[in-house]
Amino acid sequence: MSGESGVGATRARRPKLTPPAMLELKRRGEPIVVVTAYDHPTAVLADEAGVEMILVGDSVGTVMLGYESTLPVTMEDMLHHVKAVARARPSALVIGDMPFMSYQASVSDAVRNAGRLVQEGGADAVKLEGGERVAESVRRIVEAGIPVVGHLGLTPQSVLAFGGYKVQARGEADQERLLRDARLLEAAGCFAVVLEGIPARLGASVSRALTVPTIGIGAGVGCDGQVLVSHDLLGLYLGRPAKFVRRYAQLAETVRDAFGRFVADVKARRFPGDAESY
Ligand code: KIV
Repeated sequence: MSGESGVGATRARRPKLTPPAMLELKRRGEPIVVVTAYDHPTAVLADEAGVEMILVGDSVGTVMLGYESTLPVTMEDMLHHVKAVARARPSALVIGDMPFMSYQASVSDAVRNAGRLVQEGGADAVKLEGGERVAESVRRIVEAGIPVVGHLGLTPQSVLAFGGYKVQARGEADQERLLRDARLLEAAGCFAVVLEGIPARLGASVSRALTVPTIGIGAGVGCDGQVLVSHDLLGLYLGRPAKFVRRYAQLAETVRDAFGRFVADVKARRFPGDAESY
C-alpha cells in the first residue's frame, strides 16, 4: 500500500463537465481532449491533467484483459471498470462504452444496458457504435435522460464484418453514407460523435457539418477534439501501435526496468535495507 491518504486526495477541483459544456467548447473553437481510463489512479491523473472527458472504452478488453478484440467484453467487465473510474469523482465527463451485444439485439436492451452503466456504474454518458442502425436506440436512450456519444468509421465491434482493422470510408459513396449517419446520430440526440480511422478530409467535413462536436481518433486534426487510448499514449501497450498513435511516454520500458531492478535487489539481499525495515 502506498501513501496514507489515497490517490489524488488533495487535488483541486474544476466544476463538473457536462454535455452542454462540450457544445460550448465546439462553439468557441477550443479542441476537446479525451483519453481512455479503466482504473481509479489513471482517472485521477487524467482529470488532474485537464482532460474534458474520460472514456471507459471497451478497449479495456485488448489493453487490460488480454483479448485480441473488443468482442468478448461483457457488461459486467464494463461495469467493473466504469465503477473504478467513477469512484475517482473526476470533473471530466465519464463516458461508459456499451460493449458488443449490449445494444445490437433490441432497443430495449440498449436502453436497459445504458441505464445500468449510469445507475450501477456511475457513468455520466454512454457511447455506442454505428449509424442509422442504432439511431432509434440512441433516441430512446436520450429520451430516458442519458447523454449519448456516437461512434462512426472504423468501429472495432464490426471488425469481423470489416475483415480487419482497416481505414474506412475511402470511397465517395462510403463517405456520403458516413456523413448521413453522422447527421442521423446528431438528429437522434447524440451530444458528440467519435470518428475513428477515416481520411482526415472526411473528419474535417463531418466536423463542419455537425453542430455537436466530433472526437477524432485517426480522423485528422480537423475534428473538434481528439481521443487516444491511454495505454497507447503512455507507451504501456505491448502490441504494435496504430499509425495515428503518438507516444508521450515509454512506460513499458520504465516498468520493465523497475521490475528488473527489484528482482536483482531481492536476489542479492539488497532489499529491504535498514530504511525499509522495522
Ligand atoms: O474503446 C475505446 O477505447 C474506443 C476509442 C478507441 C474511441 O472506443
